[in-house]
Amino acid sequence: MSQLENRIKVERENLPKHIAFIMDGNGRWAQQRKMPRSFGHNAGLDAMRRVIRFYGEVGIKVLSFYAFSTENWKRSQREVNFLMNLPIDFIEQDLPELMERGARLIYSGDLTKIPKKTLDAMRRGEKATAQNNDLIINIAFNYGGRDEIIRGIRAMALEHKEGFLQALNEEDLGKFLDHPELPDPDLIVRTGGEQRLSNFFLWQAAYSELFFTEEYWPDLNEELLEKILGDYLDRNRRFGGL
Ligand code: FPP
Repeated sequence: MSQLENRIKVERENLPKHIAFIMDGNGRWAQQRKMPRSFGHNAGLDAMRRVIRFYGEVGIKVLSFYAFSTENWKRSQREVNFLMNLPIDFIEQDLPELMERGARLIYSGDLTKIPKKTLDAMRRGEKATAQNNDLIINIAFNYGGRDEIIRGIRAMALEHKEGFLQALNEEDLGKFLDHPELPDPDLIVRTGGEQRLSNFFLWQAAYSELFFTEEYWPDLNEELLEKILGDYLDRNRRFGGL
């Protein structure tokens, strides 16, 4: 039994319940190979599959992936179109495996701006997996942390009307965010060398552990995934206490 397998057994209750990924470095990975950026995004989708398989088997219950940010519309039309097709590819190709794994597909972000063809596939995947319970895969798509907080405040104000200010507190606003049922991410992993959150899970990241690596997202392999988990288990989380 590998050292990690042993630790997973012994420290099962300390395993992260929710790991979130900022999948950065697809473009540079492709450039290194003198290939178009789309080649990097396809390889990025493969890396996402590796994470789902590996951490799904470890028993992590929620995996979130930052796949398209509210700022990503600024990329070329060609690249945006390509990125809008990835959820379609993923759902067409991976639905049988998601069902086999008991994985449920959900989304964070403002989906009102997603092209119909993409949104139809996303909804199809969500519906087909709605009864699955072993693993939640949350894809952040047209997602921005500030946008989520503003949408939440608007929704809360609409519901509470003149009682809004009275009702406004952390717990209640949390209920108006995209997925109040999910635990906050215990760990946020960013590949590609930058050390920032780039508008990801601003509210939910309050006490998340952060892991940054120079590796480009498509290079993520089991060895690194083991290292990330081992590093997390070595940390001592205090949540502001002693
Ligand atoms: C950032 O790398 C990555 C993205 C904007 C897209 C990531 C999306 C995937 C890996 C797959 C998504 C899958 C589904 C199912 C929607 P970058 O392009 O900014 O890389 P760079 O910094 O090297 O240019």
